Amino acid sequence: MSLTALCPGTFDPVTYGHLDVIERAAGLFDRVVVAVVENPSKEPLFTLEERRTMLKESLADLENVEVDSFSGLLVDFARRRGVRMLVKGLRAVSDFDYELQMAQMNHRLSGIETCFIPASPTWSYLSSSLVKEVASLGGDVEGLVPPHVQERLRERLG
Ligand code: PNS
Repeated sequence: MSLTALCPGTFDPVTYGHLDVIERAAGLFDRVVVAVVENPSKEPLFTLEERRTMLKESLADLENVEVDSFSGLLVDFARRRGVRMLVKGLRAVSDFDYELQMAQMNHRLSGIETCFIPASPTWSYLSSSLVKEVASLGGDVEGLVPPHVQERLRERLG
């Protein structure tokens, strides 16, 4: 039986922390669908298309990974895609509270399971929000996001 996992997120923008979790999921599951939420409530810096493109460029070498997007409930998207497993990265205990709540709610809504992958300690402090804040204030984000993402941040934030 082939097992597909769904890695959902905002990815505004994708960081090396996200890529670490996705790559490790790709080593565990037959197929991984990276699902970018449209999420207008968060007012992302990058459009949905830009976030998708940055992920595709970053993941081009992984043959069993594809990038898709959704709006609305994650469990509805998972059902449409026929996926029964979510994969989330956990950076610290502080992530766990909310992630556990979402995992339990998603399970109640549709029976979908969630599998947690502990973030590599190298990336445990890393978040898209901090990358955007540092970049917008002129700080160096080299080594935190792929070079093509760094370039887009430079274009967008100056
Ligand atoms: O990268 P993020 O912002 O931490 O990802 C959060 C995400 C996209 C996984 C979460 O906001 C989500 O699942 N949104 C879709 C709407 C939904 O299903 N909400 C109910 C969650 S229990």
